[in-house]
Amino acid sequence: MKRYKTIAVMTSGGDAPGMNAAIRAVVRTAANNGLKTFAVHDGFEGIIDGDFMEIDATSVSNIIQRGGTIIHTSRSERFLTKKWRLMAYEQLIAKEIDAVFIIGGNGSFKGANVFTSEFDIPFVGIPKTIDNDVYGTDHTIGFDTACNTAMEAIDKIRDTANSHHRLFIVEVMGRDFGFIAAQCGISSGVEAIMVPEIDTGFDDLIAKLERGWVRQKQSLIVIVAEGCHKDGVTALAEQMKARFNYYDIRVCVLGHMQRGGSPSSFDRVLASRLGYEGVLALLKGKKNIMVGMKNGKLNYVTFADVCSGTISIDKQLLLMADVLAS
Ligand code: F6P
Repeated sequence: MKRYKTIAVMTSGGDAPGMNAAIRAVVRTAANNGLKTFAVHDGFEGIIDGDFMEIDATSVSNIIQRGGTIIHTSRSERFLTKKWRLMAYEQLIAKEIDAVFIIGGNGSFKGANVFTSEFDIPFVGIPKTIDNDVYGTDHTIGFDTACNTAMEAIDKIRDTANSHHRLFIVEVMGRDFGFIAAQCGISSGVEAIMVPEIDTGFDDLIAKLERGWVRQKQSLIVIVAEGCHKDGVTALAEQMKARFNYYDIRVCVLGHMQRGGSPSSFDRVLASRLGYEGVLALLKGKKNIMVGMKNGKLNYVTFADVCSGTISIDKQLLLMADVLAS
């Protein structure tokens, strides 16, 4: 079995709360096992440019509670091209890096999958994204915090909506999947949830809202995942004004605030476990895998499977949300 001496750790793709906790876990577990660690700045861009900095257990003090990523991140266009991946390989070889830990999401794992099929430097993936849309893990780092952030914002919106007898359309993140919308919709008790996976017809939406009006609700809230309305929530609000004018209508896009902030206890522990177990998995001979958690147990999934696997939203949960909002 290969003896590893030096690893690199990088964060890649959109940031998510808990990335720093994962960096800390990787660096400290590596140090504990006698490995030297380089931090890569700015994701794949930093590997291509050879932007590495040696870090140790002390360098990651006091970061477990911080949002964002102390080593920065990117979505690298260059890494899509073989020429730049070769450059990245040469940079890793020059620093004698034996393996790379990538704290990333689907795009990052696609990149890792291509790279590891071309070159002989192994990668280990730690799943993060507020969207929770990675195959092979029940939770990605950052999802819990983002849902709590959005839920707190929606609670505040409810206060003002109730005061003015208003209907609010609240857009949350989620380009391809409605996991944030579903989670926050249930936890905030909203009147309707729209997710990209399910085509909620306009008539259905109005019917849900009319139920609230008939019950003389003081306010109504619709949560819309960003990926499900191609013309945006303002257009949806205009369409609604023409059809359902019992309430004054307002729009609120929560946007990137969902990506920031101090990670929740759940995300800190998840990030710590996945970072720790990732290093141990590499030392035991596993490579080119993502470490996730399924049903409370560690799950090691090859990058190829992460990239080809399909995930789906729990439709029963949405049915439940509908009953509870009625
Ligand atoms: O991190 C995932 C995500 O939040 C998506 O839900 C969203 O569409 C996207 O990132 C936006 O990211 P950016 O503005 O960084 O391109």
